[in-house]
Amino acid sequence: MHIYCISDIHVDFTENALWIANLSNTDFMNDTLILAGDVAHDLALLQQTLLELKSKFKHLFFVPGNHDLWVHNSEWRDSIEKFHGLLNWCRDEGIDVEPQLLDAEGRATVWIVPLFSWYSASIEDSHSLYWPKPGEDAENFPWADKYYIRWPDAQQPFDAASFFADFNKLGLLQTQGLPVISFSHFLPRQEMMFGDSLKPDPEKIRKYDRNPKFNFSRVAGSGLIERQIRELGSHTHVYGHQHINRDRVLEGVRYVSHCLSYPAERKLGMAKGIEAGLKRIWNTDESASRNINSPT
Ligand SMILES: [Fe+2]
Ligand SMILES: [Fe+2]
Repeated sequence: MHIYCISDIHVDFTENALWIANLSNTDFMNDTLILAGDVAHDLALLQQTLLELKSKFKHLFFVPGNHDLWVHNSEWRDSIEKFHGLLNWCRDEGIDVEPQLLDAEGRATVWIVPLFSWYSASIEDSHSLYWPKPGEDAENFPWADKYYIRWPDAQQPFDAASFFADFNKLGLLQTQGLPVISFSHFLPRQEMMFGDSLKPDPEKIRKYDRNPKFNFSRVAGSGLIERQIRELGSHTHVYGHQHINRDRVLEGVRYVSHCLSYPAERKLGMAKGIEAGLKRIWNTDESASRNINSPT
C-alpha cells in the first residue's frame, strides 16, 4: 500500500476541480490519501469532492482547513457547528477523521492521526508562530477569515487553537511502537514558513513578497500542533495552508507540505512538485527508515 498526500485543493477553481477529477479511478484502489484541508467553503462542493476522492482510494483521511469552516451565506450558526456537522457527515460516509491503524496484507503497518488545528491568533500567546515583519500593518491586513469565520457567541474571545488541540484527545491513543503519520492543515512551527535557511530571507522577501503589509506568521499555525506531534512521536507530519511545498526533516520528524494551491500560483511555479501529481510519502513494503530517507 502507498500513502499519498495533498492539501489546499480549492476546488472552487474549475481548473482545480478538473485536476482532482482527472486523478485515476483505478490506480489508487489499494492506497490511502491524506487530504490536509482547504477543499471548498461551499459545503455541497466540499462533500461532493470528498466523495469523489473516496471513490478513488481505499482510505481517505481528512481534516478541515480554514476555508472549509467559512460560514458566510450558509445556515450554520458558527464555524464550530459546521465543524461538528462536517465530521459527523464524514464518519457516515466512511471518510476517516479519527486515528486509524492501517494494515497491509493483514499486517499492522502505520498509524494515521488527524490533528484538528487552528492558528494561535494572538501574538501574546506562547504558542503563536509570530515572527515580526518590517512594514506590516497589523490592523489592516487582508485576511478573509476575519469576515467568514464565526466562533460561538457564548465563548468570546474564542481560543480556536486550544479548542482544536483539546478536541484531539491524544492521551487515549496507544500506538504500540508503530510508526505514526500525523497531519494538520496549519503549520506546526515557525521554521516551516521559511526556506532552507529556516529564517526569513530578506532577499526573497524583496523579490517575491506581493503583499508587504501582510504578515502570514500571524495566521500560520500554532506550536500546539508541534507539541502534539512530539507527544505522538510522529515519524512524518503532513501540513498545508501556506501554499508552499516542502519536504524536510527537522529534529527527527519529516515535515511534508504538498499543496495544489491556486491556478495562478501554479502558473508562477510556486507549487513545487505538483506537476508530478499527488505526493507519495509512504510505502508499507518499506521500513520506516527507508520511508524517511527516500521521499518520492
Ligand atoms: Fe489554502
Ligand atoms: Fe488554509
